[in-house]
Amino acid sequence: MYCVKNVTDDLFWIGGSDRRLALFENIYPIPRGVSYNAYLLLDEKTVLLDTVDASVSELFFENLEHVLGGRKLDYLVVNHMEPDHCASIGGVVLRYPDVKLVCNAKTVTMLKQFFDFDVDSRAVVVKEMDTLSTGKHTLAFVMAPMVHWPEAMVTFDTVDGTLFSADAFGTFGALNGNLFADEVDFEHEWLPDARRYLTNIVGKYGPQVQAVLKKASGLDIKRICPLHGPVWRENIGWFIDKYDKWSSYTPEENAVMIAYASVYGNTGNAADVLASKLADLGVKNIAVYDVSVTDPSYVLAEAFLCSHLVFAASTYTGGIFTPMETLLLELKAHNLQNRTVAVMENGTWAPMAGKLMKELLGSMKNMSLLEQGVTIRSSLKEEQLSQVEALAKAIKDSMER
Ligand code: FEO
Repeated sequence: MYCVKNVTDDLFWIGGSDRRLALFENIYPIPRGVSYNAYLLLDEKTVLLDTVDASVSELFFENLEHVLGGRKLDYLVVNHMEPDHCASIGGVVLRYPDVKLVCNAKTVTMLKQFFDFDVDSRAVVVKEMDTLSTGKHTLAFVMAPMVHWPEAMVTFDTVDGTLFSADAFGTFGALNGNLFADEVDFEHEWLPDARRYLTNIVGKYGPQVQAVLKKASGLDIKRICPLHGPVWRENIGWFIDKYDKWSSYTPEENAVMIAYASVYGNTGNAADVLASKLADLGVKNIAVYDVSVTDPSYVLAEAFLCSHLVFAASTYTGGIFTPMETLLLELKAHNLQNRTVAVMENGTWAPMAGKLMKELLGSMKNMSLLEQGVTIRSSLKEEQLSQVEALAKAIKDSMER
């Protein structure tokens, strides 16, 4: 049975949600599922904005047919070619062979790479700020390279103020009946997944996200329709501010994340003692993660949230215990910067993790390394508590500057 939602009188959400997929992009756990949003505008011309992942395509085609109500499909705007959105383009062309594909030149190349149908005869190629009048509405096209692929663009309805933002302003999480962000407790129930989605998927491309935000600031946006998660029509500035922070690598909170990689628990114990000492000093925002247990995507998102990061790791085969090395490489690959950092290391006979972690952190941009650190040999001893307390105090002092 079709399942559609009105966004406005003549704009419809016709996507679907997947609660069975374990790993988005075959890498990111999505315990709350994910939605693939597609939109249909019924104007003098009918305009489909993006399609959906193959997993929900059957429902999508039923939705499309229902809302079209026997009308033909005139245009498909292709904002993004990643298969979670483009997978059903071939099916659209098969069902509506006269449809015109509104896209940019890079998209044309990718369409030909992904599909075998005749692209050139169907393509309406657009450039920055080209417009398409569909009757009452006028659509303007704004290029958004690397948010999240090079061909990505966003589409702005200049009449209604609706921004079809592609991956931007999306989030993990299946839709649960309510389409609009103002109908759910977004800050508490959705924001962690929105942060994890953006920082992991587009975190590396902060400058490109900033470029899109700059372009968006010149538009009178009344509504944001992303390709994943709820539609925004209220409090849009609050969410844009979050994007501004994430993409400029600005901490959201004066807070401490302690991530540890511990083979038998002794390094984890030292991390817990540090957290306890920080709490004794009055620090309230402390998050502790065992990186062998928690998927790196969660820890990376927390690192984008917090101003202060402590990495505690055992030495393992002469290097950094692998789960911590993986995390640090992920943080570096995602361009994380502008943080105050500290390290704790463990090594029963030849501690090396601290030196190597410092080298990795030193290769990242604008990381301020605290002098205070802790080296334990096998387990934390009473006489070393003063070192842990000194590190806690250095973190606390730095948070107050
Ligand atoms: Fe949701 Fe980059 O695809």
